[in-house]
Amino acid sequence: MNLNEAIIKRRSVRAYQDKPVAPELIQKIFHEAQESPSNCNTQPWHVVVASGNARDEIEKSMVSDIMAGKTPTPHFTPGDQNLKDEYRKRQIACAISLYDAMDIKYEEKDKRQQLMLRNWQFFGAPHAAFFSMPKTMSEINAVDMGIYLQTVMLLMTANGLGSCPQGALAMYTDKVHELANIPDNHAIMFGLSFGYPDESAPINQFDVGRAELGDSVEFLT
Ligand SMILES: Cc1cc2nc3c(=O)[nH]c(=O)nc-3n(C[C@H](O)[C@H](O)[C@H](O)COP(=O)(O)O)c2cc1C
Repeated sequence: MNLNEAIIKRRSVRAYQDKPVAPELIQKIFHEAQESPSNCNTQPWHVVVASGNARDEIEKSMVSDIMAGKTPTPHFTPGDQNLKDEYRKRQIACAISLYDAMDIKYEEKDKRQQLMLRNWQFFGAPHAAFFSMPKTMSEINAVDMGIYLQTVMLLMTANGLGSCPQGALAMYTDKVHELANIPDNHAIMFGLSFGYPDESAPINQFDVGRAELGDSVEFLT
């Protein structure tokens, strides 16, 4: 698969086959992603890849925090806060596409909440990765995190895997900190569920689309 094909094919995958990814392939993907560029080559990312029992323990802890009504504790401001104008419209359109794919009406609050909960069940993926960066870093360093994330996701696509980046996975992170050696001054910014996609699942059938090129890019001559 060439780069262009991987960019077009990558989509957020929200249902997975019950089939773990070989540890060698996971290692290879993260090894290659180390080539990502960053400000002054600082490489601010630290990643915890959870599989097997560790993955299950984290899911259990996150779901029980939510069920207990615990207040989420993200360190970095979540990306869905205070959206306005066209950004708010796109956020709503994105949610509606998801509900439509699952045949959920807006009034069906229980079903919407069940769907939301799937975030912390990693949408059934056998693996979940947690990406952190130093708490003292700012927006420009977050660019490095985004570049790195997209590199990981494209490598996954090119290797037949699916993934879903999730800000939701930065909300209840106590168990990840307990199990892993995340540097003390780091905070988790987002997570990534990944595995082999369930291509036939209804939730994987929709495409949210994109704005017209002219709405995003201006060419001066
Ligand atoms: C930083 C980031 C955080 C995201 N957080 C979530 C999330 O918490 N839950 C979710 O289902 N999708 C999440 N997404 C996926 C977006 O909804 C998705 O990328 C967008 O709608 C475009 O769709 P596509 O990835 O299928 O092309 C996130 C994406 C990014 C880049």
